[in-house]
Amino acid sequence: MKTVILLGTVRKGRQSHKAAHYLERRLQALGIETDLIDLAKTPLPIAGTEEAETPEAKRAIAHIGTRIEEGNSLIFVTPEYQGSFSGVLKNALDHYWAEFQKKPVGVVASSSGRMAGINASTQLQHVILSLGAFPMPNKLLISEVHTAFDAYGEPKEQRIVRSTNKFLDELLWFASAFCLKKQKEVVV
Ligand SMILES: Cc1cc2nc3c(=O)[nH]c(=O)nc-3n(C[C@H](O)[C@H](O)[C@H](O)COP(=O)(O)O)c2cc1C
Repeated sequence: MKTVILLGTVRKGRQSHKAAHYLERRLQALGIETDLIDLAKTPLPIAGTEEAETPEAKRAIAHIGTRIEEGNSLIFVTPEYQGSFSGVLKNALDHYWAEFQKKPVGVVASSSGRMAGINASTQLQHVILSLGAFPMPNKLLISEVHTAFDAYGEPKEQRIVRSTNKFLDELLWFASAFCLKKQKEVVV
């Protein structure tokens, strides 16, 4: 099984990447293959523009599309910006559709305040439905993200560890159910 993590923060001095790296390690400890797509390292052009039509851009878009497609489950990590999820994440989602079909998607939202990206997370769940994917009911919300992780990238509070357990448990349950269904389809 493979989980693809799409990291939707590219800001200099960003904080939400800590949640993505923590999840990556947690998944790997469970024996799950991971692929972290960091939009700061592999930027995508604005969808639908001429910039997205160059051969180089088309190759980059297709490469990320293949990586998304290879995931049995996905995790979208976003900061809360102006009461919603990040524009860079929305732009990335706008490049794809077929790649998301019927995939379980876990939402992780963070903010520097106490509200932990709740608005970003619910709006993102709605968008996931439009992608033809399944938003998981359990979200992972990280408040005060700038102080939530220690120097080793581990959560300082057990509350985050417990929420992560619940979040991963549900996501991987759905991912394995979909894998089984797909295997049966192949056999039939
Ligand atoms: C453009 C911008 C808008 C923001 N809007 C909100 C917001 O609406 N609500 C909130 O709680 N935090 C907001 N924040 C603070 C972020 O939650 C904070 O930067 C946090 O560290 C997560 O984002 P990061 O991954 O970019 O660091 C905003 C930050 C930026 C840069």
